[in-house]
Amino acid sequence: TWTMAGFRDAEIARIRAQVGDARVICGLSGGVDSAVAAALIHAAIGPQLTCIFVDHGLLRAGEAAQVVETFRDRFNMRLVHRDAGDLFLGALAGVTDPEVKRKTIGRLFVEVFEEEAQRLGGADYLAQGTLYPDVIESVSVTGGPSVTIKSHHNVGGLPERMRMRLIEPLRELFKDEVRALGRELGLPEAIVGRHPFPGPGLAIRIPGPVDAELVAILQRADAIFLEEIRAAGLYDAIWQAFAVLLPVRSVGVMGDGRTYDRVCALRAVTSTDGMTADIYPFDMAFLSRVAGRIVNEVRGINRVTYDITSKPPGTIEWE
Ligand code: XMP
Repeated sequence: TWTMAGFRDAEIARIRAQVGDARVICGLSGGVDSAVAAALIHAAIGPQLTCIFVDHGLLRAGEAAQVVETFRDRFNMRLVHRDAGDLFLGALAGVTDPEVKRKTIGRLFVEVFEEEAQRLGGADYLAQGTLYPDVIESVSVTGGPSVTIKSHHNVGGLPERMRMRLIEPLRELFKDEVRALGRELGLPEAIVGRHPFPGPGLAIRIPGPVDAELVAILQRADAIFLEEIRAAGLYDAIWQAFAVLLPVRSVGVMGDGRTYDRVCALRAVTSTDGMTADIYPFDMAFLSRVAGRIVNEVRGINRVTYDITSKPPGTIEWE
């Protein structure tokens, strides 16, 4: 009978046979897929693997540190952590168009990754956490309808340009299977059970121009929302939950004073594949508690709304 432990062992043997004593580079993003790919390849070839974590500074609060802690400290992997927040924010300065944000981030990501790979002296193989749905989607993007609603930057021309052979050990798996494999490999639940997160990160959750201060404000609001969702035991019932920092200021009162600060929108949806989604029906007491905490604890936000649009006609992200 087929088991995930059996799949893991077979894949480890297959990777060992394929790679021999060659060197492999793997990009880590903080997401589930690249984490599981790295853990699997590390289980197969240990120090022949080096991971490159291009940190664009647009992850959730605390997640970059968690990536480093998990992979370098706990798994003892060779890990390059390139802290490139200033570079990305510099390139994003003044950019408002969502697709230009994506393209800017995607292009820089590849540039920084290549730079770090070259610094390592290159490698024979590049590992990617491509899943079966990514394979299908990238086929349908090129061969299917001519309208791209949002470009995704995670599957791209890296390997050809870098003259490395590609290893994609997850390309026959679906998300739930990848999670099961991650657990089999001993990855922490905080990584394996994590909600999907877009490659361009918080840049597409700040409509309008992005800067370091706005990213910091959004990280704080988002952390409160996620903390309350976890505390209420709702995390696993939700496909994605996040805060969006709107480019709108509204008037409020705080103590004796008038405030004129930003509006934050909360978004939480259920879904099975991200193609369609329903809003998560929080009770009002929960939403009101989160709103109270955000307005009281996050300077720069004085109003909170809940997005009640399903997909379609809305998309999950705001950009
Ligand atoms: P939308 O907003 O199109 O999102 O309903 C569907 C799913 O895709 C994620 N998403 C992205 N993921 N790069 C990514 O890697 C992107 O540019 C991107 N845009 C959206 C979104 O978070 C949701 O899971």
